[in-house]
Amino acid sequence: MKILAFETSCDDTAVAIVENGTDVLASVRHSQVEHEPYGGVVPEIAARLHSERWRPVLEECLSQANCSISDIDYLAVTNGPGLQTSLLTGTTAASFLSLLHQKPLIPVHHVLGHVCSTALERDPSKFQFPSVVLTVSGGHTDFYLRKNFIDVQKIGQTRDDAAGEAYDKVAKMLGLGYPGGPIVSQKADQGNPKAFDLPRIFLEKDSLDFSFSGLKAAVYRLTQESDSVQEESFIADVCASFQEAVVDIFLKKIVRVFQQYPDIHELHFVGGVSANKRLREEIKNLCHVHKKQFFTTQKFEYSTDNAAMIAGAAYFLVQKNPDVAQVQFVDGEAGLAINDQ
Ligand code: KG4
Ligand code: ZN
Repeated sequence: MKILAFETSCDDTAVAIVENGTDVLASVRHSQVEHEPYGGVVPEIAARLHSERWRPVLEECLSQANCSISDIDYLAVTNGPGLQTSLLTGTTAASFLSLLHQKPLIPVHHVLGHVCSTALERDPSKFQFPSVVLTVSGGHTDFYLRKNFIDVQKIGQTRDDAAGEAYDKVAKMLGLGYPGGPIVSQKADQGNPKAFDLPRIFLEKDSLDFSFSGLKAAVYRLTQESDSVQEESFIADVCASFQEAVVDIFLKKIVRVFQQYPDIHELHFVGGVSANKRLREEIKNLCHVHKKQFFTTQKFEYSTDNAAMIAGAAYFLVQKNPDVAQVQFVDGEAGLAINDQ
């Protein structure tokens, strides 16, 4: 079963074709570098670029997969959450194709796409449930208890900033550009993680929630109080100390999850921040110590926003309930909740 999916919830225009939820025939993405000077995504610029790019990205994807629309069984699209004007490009394009070619269209929650991203280019029949999924991106930092491929229950979330957002803001404070995650982690490799003692906020004793705003504020104070903000060694030390605090926070919270949910077999680490090599390594080691299987995406490009994960999630959704796929017009819903699927 071939599914063609669109993902345009933020600043990536992405189209992919995936067979049976796992085999990626083509995954094409146009990432918008135009936001870099602003240190964050400018919604109006994002929407304009999506509307210019979606057709060339679609054509490139079809050509890479050696397919035409008539070979596609289902269409899929991210219908939320995200930037409303960005979502609308994808939902309008997918709806237009659905009505024109009479192809059933499956709306997919963006975070459910990330949840299903570890199944891409793998044999998911080996997955064992229940498991826990840690989704960490620019907009989300959540723990989900996963009963099967698509039934998830949120058991923890950030109370303020998402971890990716904290990376992006630290990068902005240090004048490093956007997106901040890759560049902050690259600078961190050259710095001393013990240079600055930054706060780790663990919240109440049993809490599985997160808070990154205090850490972000502490980095801000450092940059305001120091005369060396331009110096490479200062920047590297701040990045290393910041990343060390983020690692400590995730490790402590994951241990709490293992204590509170002893029946889980696996931990899946997904979302843009899961492209971070240091975090991947540390979380993998922790899982090994606690005898839990660790999964993250097979390729880094499936951690950050992509359409293959949306096609993958659509496959598992339609397996469970064929009625989700209709020839239909789907609207973008900026604040969609994951259990509304
Ligand atoms: O999943 P994603 O592409 O988009 C959202 O759904 O938000 O995640 C983007 C986020 C950005 O905040 C970016 O800075 C962060 O993921 N990110 C990273 C890395 N690569 C991307 N954070 C830390 N280390 C990385 N290597
Ligand atoms: Zn995302």
